[in-house]
Amino acid sequence: MVELEDLPSVGEKTAEKLRDAGFADMMRLATATAKELAVKAEIGEGVAEKVIEAARKSEKIDFETAFDVLERRRDVGRITVGSDAFNELIGGGIETQSITEVFGEFGSGKSQVAHELAVTAQLPLDKGGLEGECVFIDTENTFRPERIEQIADHFELDHEEVLQKIHIARAFNSSHQILMAEKINELVQSGANIKLVIVDSLMAHFRAEYVGRESLAVRQQKLNQHLHALQQLANNYNIAIFITNQVQARPDAFFGSPTKAIGGHVLGHASTYRIWLKKGLAGKRIARLVDSPHLPEGECVFKITTDGIVD
Ligand code: GTP
Ligand code: MG
Repeated sequence: MVELEDLPSVGEKTAEKLRDAGFADMMRLATATAKELAVKAEIGEGVAEKVIEAARKSEKIDFETAFDVLERRRDVGRITVGSDAFNELIGGGIETQSITEVFGEFGSGKSQVAHELAVTAQLPLDKGGLEGECVFIDTENTFRPERIEQIADHFELDHEEVLQKIHIARAFNSSHQILMAEKINELVQSGANIKLVIVDSLMAHFRAEYVGRESLAVRQQKLNQHLHALQQLANNYNIAIFITNQVQARPDAFFGSPTKAIGGHVLGHASTYRIWLKKGLAGKRIARLVDSPHLPEGECVFKITTDGIVD
């Protein structure tokens, strides 16, 4: 392990500044930009450039072969969504190293799936979990610990233990939301075994704050920054990212989906898996996989019950 102090041009003071700003490990430094580092750690941009370059050397960041990629993919973990049919649709559960997005109209079950995952991420491997902790970025104030307790009961888990492993971040606006996501690095570096990061919902603040065509470019740029930080977390620490998203009506659609996810191409390209949730008859829900790098499109039916998500 290379320590910050081992890097050339990093003295005790700079090391302290870097740690305080959440750049405590080489991977985090190596994937930062000089501007970002200079602003956040309050160091000169020249120093920042040197530090980043040294971190890159120590991390041996280089081209990798397809074989290396396959090896890295072997580390991919999966978290069960509670229903076998739903798991099968998405290849066995939501993946680490990826961003999984669910979108759908109000009441379609997006937040319920988020609550389910916050619990199942803690299950042992043979039960479909990753024995990990979770960060829940709640932008709409819809996180309910009582709901977590009900789902924990279903898996016969201890309430307090489960609740202690869910780190809640209430985000009050989009800047706060971006900041909270970046702070997760510090939480991981302080030793929390984070395996899942939930953002419920991703777009609510962005949508409310950036109104009108003229602000769209700025919104998309900020959103891009946010998604980039989330993807970095996923890659650097083998974490699963789960985001929920709203829809807008498409009254002009004669064919295909009458609703579509918001967030535009920036989000469309950032999400590895996109799942559309719909309300069905008699309390049933339909999940449709609409975008995935290697799985066929398809649908499944599941149900939301007191126990959580079930077949
Ligand atoms: P928005 O955030 O409003 O866009 O919706 P959402 O997609 O996040 O919906 P959410 O996941 O909050 O789903 C709410 C629905 O889940 C409710 O309308 C109920 O049908 C169902 N639900 C929530 N809790 C329970 C429960 O304890 N038991 C049962 N049977 N259903 C529940
Ligand atoms: Mg919700």
